[in-house]
Amino acid sequence: MVKVHVFNGPNLNLLGQREPGQYGQRGLADIMQELGEFATNCGIELEHFQTNSEGGMVDLIQDAGGQDVDYIIINPAGYTHTSVAIRDALLAVDIPFVEVHLSAVGAREPFRQVSYFSDIAIGVISGFHGESYLLALQAILNRIEP
Ligand code: DQA
Repeated sequence: MVKVHVFNGPNLNLLGQREPGQYGQRGLADIMQELGEFATNCGIELEHFQTNSEGGMVDLIQDAGGQDVDYIIINPAGYTHTSVAIRDALLAVDIPFVEVHLSAVGAREPFRQVSYFSDIAIGVISGFHGESYLLALQAILNRIEP
């Protein structure tokens, strides 16, 4: 069974209350529940985690490296634009990953248009609010069953 881990970075626990114009009206639990149901229907084993800390994200990625995880879906949130440590963790475990953003980062402030991840990701999905995660999982499914 294909195993996918979903990692959400800082402040994504506040989805629903946080800048709904950028990130949508839905809470993280709701978005992850829908994603989990989609995964189950497609025969994928999916687990999701959220952390507000950079070291916490590095630990989650390192743990995935020891657990035969096939793909990672990651929204590094604010760390997208700053974190060499999280980038290095993804390179170290060498698990293919999709970078996800709820907002259209390319259409926002210049600092958000820089990502420490896009050049090493399978691909990037941005701007579809909670649906971005479903599109990322669909992209993984397409790679498994072309
Ligand atoms: C985000 C975009 C980031 O710039 C921001 O810091 C976030 C969320 C997104 O999902 O749109 O926290 O990753």
